[in-house]
Amino acid sequence: MTDEELLYRAKGARARAYAPYSDFIVGAALYAEGEVYDAANVENASYGLSMCAERNAVMRAVLDGARELEVVAVCSSTSPPAAPCGMCLQTLREFTKDPASLRILLCNEAGEKVEHTLASLLPHGFKPEDLPRR
Ligand code: THU
Repeated sequence: MTDEELLYRAKGARARAYAPYSDFIVGAALYAEGEVYDAANVENASYGLSMCAERNAVMRAVLDGARELEVVAVCSSTSPPAAPCGMCLQTLREFTKDPASLRILLCNEAGEKVEHTLASLLPHGFKPEDLPRR
């Protein structure tokens, strides 16, 4: 799976978004344990229930048994390409042992690309190890 292929999947996933309230259409594709999981944002008339593309993709991956994310690709329409929201970054943090090695590729429909890591976007995130042992 090349970066270009993963970005292509994220871009393609935008077609499945349900975003009648914001008209902000986001696609995400995750590479995890040899598989690609793609998703788009799904909104709700009760606005706060809207779900981001990234978290929908994480739920697909986790429900399929994946626990370690390797690469995340996100595609929207903004320039420069928009990064995942804080809630999505925290969700991603749950499923990587090393945030510095979890690459986050951003693109937009115009073809601009930016690369970050989870560590650069969420440098001091709360993590499972922060919880007291039971
Ligand atoms: N959205 C995402 O899908 N990912 C993000 O990281 C930021 C925001 C969606 C949620 C909502 O459907 C729309 O974009 C506007 O916030």
